[in-house]
Amino acid sequence: MNRVERPLGERAQAMIDALASITAEPGKLTRLYLTEEHREAARLVGEWMRRAGMTVRMDAAGTMHGVLPAGRAGPGSNRRLLVGSHIDTVVDAGRFDGTLGVIAGILAVEEMRGRGVSLPFELEVLAFGDEEGVRFPKTLIGSSAVSGALGDTMLDLADADGITIRDALLSFGGDPDSLADEAYLPGSTIGYLEVHIEQGPVLDQAARPLGVVSAIASQGRYRISIKGEAGHAGTVPMDIRHDALAAAAQVMLTIEEIALKHAKASCVATVGEIKAMPGAGNVIPGLVEFSLDLRAATDEARTTAFEAIRYRLRNIGAKRGVLVSVETMHEKPVATCAPRLKTAIAGAIERTTGKKPIALMSGAGHDGQAMISLTDIGMIFVRCRAGISHNPLEHVEPEDLGTAVEALVGTIESIATDYDPGE
Ligand code: GLV
Ligand code: MN
Ligand code: MN
Repeated sequence: MNRVERPLGERAQAMIDALASITAEPGKLTRLYLTEEHREAARLVGEWMRRAGMTVRMDAAGTMHGVLPAGRAGPGSNRRLLVGSHIDTVVDAGRFDGTLGVIAGILAVEEMRGRGVSLPFELEVLAFGDEEGVRFPKTLIGSSAVSGALGDTMLDLADADGITIRDALLSFGGDPDSLADEAYLPGSTIGYLEVHIEQGPVLDQAARPLGVVSAIASQGRYRISIKGEAGHAGTVPMDIRHDALAAAAQVMLTIEEIALKHAKASCVATVGEIKAMPGAGNVIPGLVEFSLDLRAATDEARTTAFEAIRYRLRNIGAKRGVLVSVETMHEKPVATCAPRLKTAIAGAIERTTGKKPIALMSGAGHDGQAMISLTDIGMIFVRCRAGISHNPLEHVEPEDLGTAVEALVGTIESIATDYDPGE
């Protein structure tokens, strides 16, 4: 069988497996932004894009762009429909998060060309390099550059080894000084579509392969630092200590309590990273730094929870004689998917699966949170086994991969049918 005749799901699975083999840690999938692994994955994606008939370039932020020209010249044929996702991963990741969306875009192009579909606009597939925000204390760099939403204060932020985003970009072959030039003109785009695994259990429990996303949750990432006083573990009496780690432990339980209190608004709070200094078993910790990831279904719920956390932090700091500070690294309001794209997606899912799709909110963050400042966004969710994600056990059935690509093709065709270049 040749590439085109093999079932779509099988082709998608083979591409996902090929990308999953590009990792910094043998036996685990870890592929962070602007690393050698990212470079190799970007190269492979570029090769696939080229093979699918697209013209390919890497931009100043390391994003791969593959463009399929419009099938026919006419009014609005120079505008672009964007389809994308990310090729970076978390540490010890699953293989579908992000990569599925990029591969679905490439396969959709292959399929449409194979079926002789001619689009009245250009189609662009984007493979962003930084959706996870794991390496640097910044996230959505690639999609923010394209959407013109990148602030200019981030180039000096550094990773755990002290390498700045500026230096990492330079050694990757990107161009920190041209990031602002990557911004697309509003009006040059028709919308942004993303296929992504759900990363939650709703579709699996409902026995549905696909769903249509209504919105992406409100999200904030913060760095909390607690400064106490280092001292001898054997000599400083308990009642006069200013133990930064004991204070951090109390702060974390307080954060959990506040998130639980706002659970009705789908508020979730996570401390996923912590550093205690100086970091010796017989020294009272003098300084602790940790991350806070806070999300909710509404901006109001997230802001209220955040204010409650800040208030309680100040109290804990005062009672324990430690200095607490909170730095905001990233904040994105709720990103609502555009009704016209939701309709196109829902119709395509119904035609592909024979059932009206479930609409669901995304608790996970996505590149669409940045792209929405440029253009309308729409997302297709794909069921993943038991909703497990950010975990090597992440799994999607090959058949669902094929169904997702079909639904993406159907969505693009429906947008093409309704395309009004004057809009
Ligand atoms: C990315 O997966 C995020 O939601 O943080
Ligand atoms: Mn993702
Ligand atoms: Mn992720």
